[in-house]
Amino acid sequence: MKTALITGITGQDGSYLTEILLEKGYIVHGIIRRSSSFNTGRIDHLYNNPELLNKKLFLHYGDVTDTSNLNRLLEKTHPEEIYNLAAQSHVKVSFELPEYTTEVDAVGTLRFLDAIRETEIKTKFYQASTSELYGKVQEVPQNETTPFYPRSPYGVAKIYGYWIVINYREAYNLFACNGILFNHESPRRGETFVTRKITRAAARISFGLQDILYLGNLDAKRDWGYAPEFCEGMWLMLQQEKPEDYVLATGETHSVREFVELTFKWLGVSLEWKGKGVNEKGIISSFDIDRFISLMDSVSEKKLTRGIKKEDILNNLKIGKEIVGVSATYFRPTEVDLLIGDASKAKKKLGWEPKVKFHQLVEIMIEADFKKILTRGF
Ligand code: NAP
Ligand code: GDD
Repeated sequence: MKTALITGITGQDGSYLTEILLEKGYIVHGIIRRSSSFNTGRIDHLYNNPELLNKKLFLHYGDVTDTSNLNRLLEKTHPEEIYNLAAQSHVKVSFELPEYTTEVDAVGTLRFLDAIRETEIKTKFYQASTSELYGKVQEVPQNETTPFYPRSPYGVAKIYGYWIVINYREAYNLFACNGILFNHESPRRGETFVTRKITRAAARISFGLQDILYLGNLDAKRDWGYAPEFCEGMWLMLQQEKPEDYVLATGETHSVREFVELTFKWLGVSLEWKGKGVNEKGIISSFDIDRFISLMDSVSEKKLTRGIKKEDILNNLKIGKEIVGVSATYFRPTEVDLLIGDASKAKKKLGWEPKVKFHQLVEIMIEADFKKILTRGF
């Protein structure tokens, strides 16, 4: 039975990776941060399972800014595999918190590698590197040999993490890998990342809980994949004979605007764009109420839940209503305009290939938020 240690276990990826490793029979140790309110929502279903907690799943308070804590946890848990997912992972926030982001995302990685060196624990290390390293892209598509040009304090901090992993691999013969992962999303994605912000807002607007979805750059393009598949790829990297770095991506790129359009289309709403720049607006040009009602029926077994009336829905999604706006608040001082990855190395060496592509990803996410808001109302 193998033992793994996961930092960032309460995050999107940490929660899926934990499920994957438990399923494979691992003992999983996770590092959680002290917080003034509950931060274990994504792993509660595991945490509340008496078959797992303190038998197969162990949680420890910790923080990647605390060196002695990391040393202690390594000594205590003796993991055969470490997945370093902890990060201040929001690119826009990194412009407000550049020093903190560097402490966690750059120096935090060094602390961990050095703790492995100090304790001399025989282990394998996965580092959550990112397509943000490519930033202002130097070639299209991006692969393991594409030069980096980060465009945010987050990207710059992660480039330190990337190189310190390679340095420790070469200097101390550590089994350490960088997974250069392109954007990956899911219903568990944090609500301030653009995909989840869109799907959650679209569901809320439909049920009259929100008027407008304000976004920033609608024309940024990303290679968006499905998080559980990417977490399986992390595990595969640590099962190889030799430690190497791998790109994981879908090989498709789509704009934020396309994500918005497809999300609303799933709900039966077509959008027309009017205006330019911060004055651009997304206006409802048509609405298929029959589709919407059938979506509701499929969730609530032919009963309109929470007293929702057809007239209310028609009013919330009235033709001519402005439901998407642009706000400069969400622009970044320097933007990453286009990302599209080439994961052929991962396909060849790991046998990894993503099945969920853009259209299906949008459906998975909007369906989950639609159900959540319809049944729980938040
Ligand atoms: P996420 O949902 O934001 O989760 C981040 C995790 O890190 C959370 O568990 C968070 O704890 C924890 N954390 C933050 N600061 C910490 C600290 N100082 N000490 C210990 N833990 C800390 O991120 P994600 O989407 O799962 O991404 C996982 C990793 O992959 C991150 O390193 C991210 O930068 C990287 N990455 C993500 C993507 C993507 O598209 N998702 C792509 C490439 C790379 P709390 O829950 O307490 O906040
Ligand atoms: N968050 C956000 N909010 N982004 C917006 C908005 C908005 O209202 N409007 C437009 N965008 C644009 C951003 O400017 C960016 O170009 C794109 O949507 C994606 O933004 P995010 O979803 O915040 O993700 P990200 O690409 O910046 O970073 C994510 O992916 C990286 C991998 O490429 C994060 O998960 C990083 O941790 C990860 O490394």
